Amino acid sequence: MPSSIVIGSQWGDEGKGKVIDILASQAEVVVRSQGGNNAGHTVVNNGVTYKLHVVPSGILYPDTLCLIGAGVVIDPKNFLEELQMLKDKNISTKNLKIDPRTHVVMPWHILLDGLSEQFRGNSDIGTTKRGIGPAYMDKYERCGIRMYDLVHPEIFRQKALSTGALKNKIITEVYGGEAFDLEAVIAEYTEYGRQLASYVDDVSVLTYEANKAGKTILFEGAQATLLDIDFGTYPYVTSSHPVSGGVCTGTGVGPKMIDRIIGVAKAYTTRVGKGPFPSELNDEIGDKIRNIGGEFGTTTGRPRRTGWFDAVIVRHSVRVNGLDGLALNKLDTLCGLGDLKVCVAYKKPDGTVLKNFPAALEELDGVEPVYETLPGFTEDISGCRSFDELPETCKAYIRRVEELIECPVCMIGVGPDRTQTIERN
Ligand code: IMP
Repeated sequence: MPSSIVIGSQWGDEGKGKVIDILASQAEVVVRSQGGNNAGHTVVNNGVTYKLHVVPSGILYPDTLCLIGAGVVIDPKNFLEELQMLKDKNISTKNLKIDPRTHVVMPWHILLDGLSEQFRGNSDIGTTKRGIGPAYMDKYERCGIRMYDLVHPEIFRQKALSTGALKNKIITEVYGGEAFDLEAVIAEYTEYGRQLASYVDDVSVLTYEANKAGKTILFEGAQATLLDIDFGTYPYVTSSHPVSGGVCTGTGVGPKMIDRIIGVAKAYTTRVGKGPFPSELNDEIGDKIRNIGGEFGTTTGRPRRTGWFDAVIVRHSVRVNGLDGLALNKLDTLCGLGDLKVCVAYKKPDGTVLKNFPAALEELDGVEPVYETLPGFTEDISGCRSFDELPETCKAYIRRVEELIECPVCMIGVGPDRTQTIERN
């Protein structure tokens, strides 16, 4: 397939890295279109572990063009550390390009992320405190600093002085915080711009040309559908569009370029940060899933909240993204848990049943998950490499998931290694 999108179908951390890595090995171009270093995935290649945040996973393949589109926000300090980590492991970054339109995460964004979370108190969002929301705020406020500005010292200086003065006013007068020394910030970030200048190129043009030349392109999603600023659990969401439509706006290409859209989900559900989670398990089974599945954040190390597979949210993802197939990861984690439950709807306190994920959180107040119970399994499935090799109970689980979400399961993850994947047509 020439152009594929891989998207998270739950609240993130679905194991997109593994699916992306499999597809990246077949791609000639890998594009990232939104988010920033709030994302994180671990890729293990030839026994070496790489923790990637913004750099597309194609970087591990020496001939793959890796593109960072206009919809991404980049913290240059952190990004340069990521590049250094790769260079230290002998990974070349010569095929990496950053769109000049990407917005720069400035130190005041990081500070303001923390200050506004603190101000919200118990109503905080639980952000990664990487400055992502404040950077997107400036983008839409039209006072942001873009990569183009960062690599042009005179333009950068002028913009940093004007937006920096405003940010200092907000930091000191609204939050009672300490102002930034703007000259020191300008000196530090001008140096980052100097180091990044050679990477800047028009990603919209590069992607368009690659597609015209018939190259295989992988658009790798970060975060996930239920964290989308519009179609997620607002306000407990990130500030970008981690849905398939966001790939087009975040890269600068038209939807007709896309041939295939794959969603990724776990065979259960997790989320980090605050916000609703109807099928959450605050019990022994939830703990077991967390421990067996290693459910601790790559970026923040936070323990993830865990729960049963929620077909309502994945069906929502199938619709919002137009999924052609779902990669269902970590089926092996469900081994030995006893009967398996799947949430098929939500029941409101007044007895009404919600089959579609609602637009507003208030609609979820007091809902009870409606579960279907399916037989569990105790067999070790980590060595299975075809659907037929799976125990009947696993096959039945997957077939029922497919019916409920109205989308075929095209890949099944049975272990952390890349080879521990069952591919289905
Ligand atoms: P922010 O993106 O740092 O503003 O955080 C907003 C919400 O999105 C928080 O609940 C985060 O935990 C969540 N979030 C952001 N990035 C990721 C991710 O890559 N995986 C899972 N959750 C994420």
